[in-house]
Amino acid sequence: MRFEALSTLTAAALAAAAPATAPVEARQEKTDVPNVTVIGTGGTIAGVGSEFDTTGYEAGVIPIKTVMDRIPDLDTRANVSAIQYSNKASEAFVSSDMVDIAKLTNDLLCAPDSDQAGVVITEGTDTVEETAFLLDSLINCNKPVIVTASMRPGTAVSSDGQGNLLEAITLAGSEKAKGRGAMVVLNDRIQSAFYTSKMNANNMDAFDEKNAEIGGFLNYEPYFYYTQAQPTFKKTFNLDETLKNNATSLPKVDMIYGSQDFDSGLITAAASLGSEGIVIQGVGEGSIPSFAVDAINEVVDQGIPVVVSAKPIYGASVPMEDASSASYIKSGYVKAAQAKVYLELALANGYNMDQIRELFEGDLRSAIFHQ
Ligand SMILES: *[C@@H]1O[C@H](CO)[C@@H](O)[C@H](O)[C@H]1NC(C)=O
Ligand SMILES: *[C@@H]1O[C@H](CO)[C@@H](O)[C@H](O)[C@H]1NC(C)=O
Ligand SMILES: *[C@@H]1O[C@H](CO)[C@@H](O)[C@H](O)[C@H]1NC(C)=O
Repeated sequence: MRFEALSTLTAAALAAAAPATAPVEARQEKTDVPNVTVIGTGGTIAGVGSEFDTTGYEAGVIPIKTVMDRIPDLDTRANVSAIQYSNKASEAFVSSDMVDIAKLTNDLLCAPDSDQAGVVITEGTDTVEETAFLLDSLINCNKPVIVTASMRPGTAVSSDGQGNLLEAITLAGSEKAKGRGAMVVLNDRIQSAFYTSKMNANNMDAFDEKNAEIGGFLNYEPYFYYTQAQPTFKKTFNLDETLKNNATSLPKVDMIYGSQDFDSGLITAAASLGSEGIVIQGVGEGSIPSFAVDAINEVVDQGIPVVVSAKPIYGASVPMEDASSASYIKSGYVKAAQAKVYLELALANGYNMDQIRELFEGDLRSAIFHQ
């Protein structure tokens, strides 16, 4: 009934029903269940279309509380509070959004008087991997940070949002989820934020990066394949240090996609547009054509670090044995979108060129070259 009623409402009426600035709101009064906060930011999970729209619907319309209210018996899993941070599509996120969400999450979970077991962030799938990677790097008090989303809006036949949100909330309240870094939950999968990527643009099993999988759900209950662990190559940053001087956004890092006929003028152009760091997704395992090296050397000489990632989703951009043999830095197992986040964080923390190289290359170099 609720579902039918919902699909007849217009997008505008739904949006008017709860302004994006709705305050924190406590839902349930039950004992013995963990406190979990859901931060709604928009995306398909808050989207509206017709029953047959799995594309072309409007994202970021329904308040997150409405999505929560459609999950049966949610209060038996957790005492859930909702914060509506924004209601927009994830491609519209900018660096200041990420800073705001990281601060909010950190305050909720890591403040000395925190009473929250975990936090769930709902977001559009398109940039989930960037958000999750940033939170994984910045929120370091051992409590679960879960990013979830959906591939179909709640109005579509067989939509996935309610189930994904129920699983994310259950995981956020679970003791088993502690000390594992940030995780992404979609389609009964638990993926490590460090490794995950959106692997399919359309179908519901969009987050099935095989190296990222650390657990799953049955009966909407989480289980893990391994005991508590964190990714070997993961590095963390202190939030207060990162945002010292009251920074409200992160340094500007731009990304260039490698291909045949690569135009090295794009590197020079990025620098002249004010890039403080550049990520190049090289072809293969991060290969750069010799005719682009001069342009790279030039920007590196200006103090702008250039990080080169691999193009395929699987495998590493392997560091060279002699670190001084190239001015650019190889990203190791960190993929292009995530390398952009790491570089932003490194620059915000005042890392010099050597420290940035160590951040990306250090662990892998010592593993393979025993340096
Ligand atoms: C549920 O969460 C709200 C908001 O954090 C809190 O005020 C309330 O005391 C909690 N209830 C229980 C039973 O833990
Ligand atoms: C939930 O939050 C309330 C209010 O701060 C607190 O009294 C309660 O102990 C918390 N519950 C748990 C299980 O931590
Ligand atoms: C940061 O903001 C706080 C509080 O508004 C202020 O006291 C402090 O001076 C600011 N620090 C800098 C470096 O701007």
